[in-house]
Amino acid sequence: MELLIDCDPGIDDAIAIAYLAGEQQVGRVSLTAVTTVRGNLDASTSGRNAAFVLDRLGLQHVPVLRGAADPLTPLATQVDAEAFHGPDGLGGCHDHAHPDRSESDTPLAVLRALLRAVETGHTLLATGPLTNVALALRAAPELASSPNRIVVMGGAFGSPGGNITPTAEYNFHLDGLAAAEVATSGAPITLIPLDVTERVLISHADLAGLPESPVGHLVRRLLEASIHIHQREMGISGCIMHDALAAAVSVDPTLVGCTPGYLHVVPDGDDRGRCELAPDTEGPVDVALDVDVERARSVILESLSRL
Ligand code: RIB
Ligand code: CA
Repeated sequence: MELLIDCDPGIDDAIAIAYLAGEQQVGRVSLTAVTTVRGNLDASTSGRNAAFVLDRLGLQHVPVLRGAADPLTPLATQVDAEAFHGPDGLGGCHDHAHPDRSESDTPLAVLRALLRAVETGHTLLATGPLTNVALALRAAPELASSPNRIVVMGGAFGSPGGNITPTAEYNFHLDGLAAAEVATSGAPITLIPLDVTERVLISHADLAGLPESPVGHLVRRLLEASIHIHQREMGISGCIMHDALAAAVSVDPTLVGCTPGYLHVVPDGDDRGRCELAPDTEGPVDVALDVDVERARSVILESLSRL
């Protein structure tokens, strides 16, 4: 399965990319391109971190295209997730001496990459704010009629379900307007919200299975940093695999149980990013509200153990 990931590395985005690299080693995935977006930190950090992680994974041939520098949602009320990912976005694991090969292409080049990927049957996985995806849909509305599902990590339906406001998840809050446009575009989306991601954690004990390789050491450092941050910020003893779960669902949709329907996202205001689902078997959005936690943890750890 050929796949393009649009992301905002961030530690959990980096783990999702590492998971995909492990899947690529056994031929289940071919990672064809990475596009990046402003999210956890600024757009240049996202691009630099994606390129760094890919290079360390031996995926120097995978292009990294930096996309939108700013969300569609007005910046006045923007946030960042430095508290959860550290100033370098990778929990202190970035090597500042590593050359940044990410291409600061025009957003149009990113859109073309996204469009070409979906038009040619690739799976599109989005693990950051949906700015690039929304811009691609604006440029080519026909993207929404592609049969290829777009797997999106974002949103929350619990109460209170949010992780950046009581009702909103970070990706959907940072660019509420983009999330709202993508949600109602008619595109076939599989949505992986906090309701399932917050149930899939990696603990210190799980790190024993990581390989004693240079890549294994990098993944271990990323996870150790994330576990430390989760303990400090949330008081939990493990790190949440938001993006790695979305990546794993891209490979094996049976990991989650979905409810089909029509999705509405509040585009702006105090409630920006809040989600509402109108269940309907005809709806284009499948929202994952159940997950096989142990199987999801197992497939993520198994893939990381191959690196
Ligand atoms: O709310 C979690 C999501 O926001 C994850 O994708 C994380 O990387 C951040 O982008
Ligand atoms: Ca992310």
